[in-house]
Amino acid sequence: MAAGDTLTIIHDIEEMRAYAAEARASGFQVGLVPTMGALHEGHLSLVRRAAGDNGRTIVSVFVNPIQFDDPGDFASYPETLAADAEAASAAGADAVFAPAASGMYPDGFSTHVDMTGLSERLCGAARESHFRGVLTVVAKLFGICMPHRAYFGEKDAQQLAVVQRMAADLNMDIDIVACPTVREEDGLAMSSRNARLTAAERLAARSLYLALCAGKALFDTGERDPGRICAEIDSVIKKEQLIRVEYAQIVDSLTFDSVTSAREGCLAALAAYAGSTRLIDNLRL
Ligand code: PAJ
Repeated sequence: MAAGDTLTIIHDIEEMRAYAAEARASGFQVGLVPTMGALHEGHLSLVRRAAGDNGRTIVSVFVNPIQFDDPGDFASYPETLAADAEAASAAGADAVFAPAASGMYPDGFSTHVDMTGLSERLCGAARESHFRGVLTVVAKLFGICMPHRAYFGEKDAQQLAVVQRMAADLNMDIDIVACPTVREEDGLAMSSRNARLTAAERLAARSLYLALCAGKALFDTGERDPGRICAEIDSVIKKEQLIRVEYAQIVDSLTFDSVTSAREGCLAALAAYAGSTRLIDNLRL
């Protein structure tokens, strides 16, 4: 932590509510950056943006058990709270909220946020209760931290869209702020999961972004057939034997319905496995 910076680390839910209530009562705008920790430059770009926009910035660090469909993925998710707190503070956070799972989901917990349509496409089709888990925890974090604004990365474009939809549908008076994807030098979108890649997988993983760029380049030449654009994306990835595509689709950026004709503003969305690690990325046409 830089000298002079004060960071409050809060584990207790009631204490977090009191902190947020006091910040609001003192006239501060409150920004929230929800994360699962293992913070990297992608997360920290959200924290910096939030700290620039708000008098008080809260970073939540909570590996949310109910959004994982693979118990192994949950069990192996990295936990690095001390380093996360230091990085968040250096990026401008005032508080880190790191609740215990037993506090977030006590015995008797039985309310979830379910969404139809949008949340059932792409990542929702492949991972049944994933967005139910995400929306439930995000709604809880909003209830606890009472932010004026909450920050989400465009890297997880469908997550951003479902959170925006929930906030609108449930009349939550919170601005959902979209932040651009931060990439490694070779284009790979930063992700906590990249650390799990072997050296060979890491090298092969750059093909996700290269493939999306090739798809966009084809669109830029005038191609509007989503099938042909996706075939281009597939053909770039197929050159890498270590990568297996789960889906490549051209979708409407609000509904995530696949489109019959690609148009500007649509997303080319991609999910692929590098070995056993699932990676996602997207690019706006
Ligand atoms: P996590 O994967 O930790 O990501 C936290 C936030 O950081 C998300 O909004 C995500 O889109 C953003 N982010 C991750 N990598 C990024 C990158 N390379 N560039 C820009 N933003 C990036 O997403 C989650 O956690 C969880 O689902 C959560 C919303 C916290 C609910 O549990």
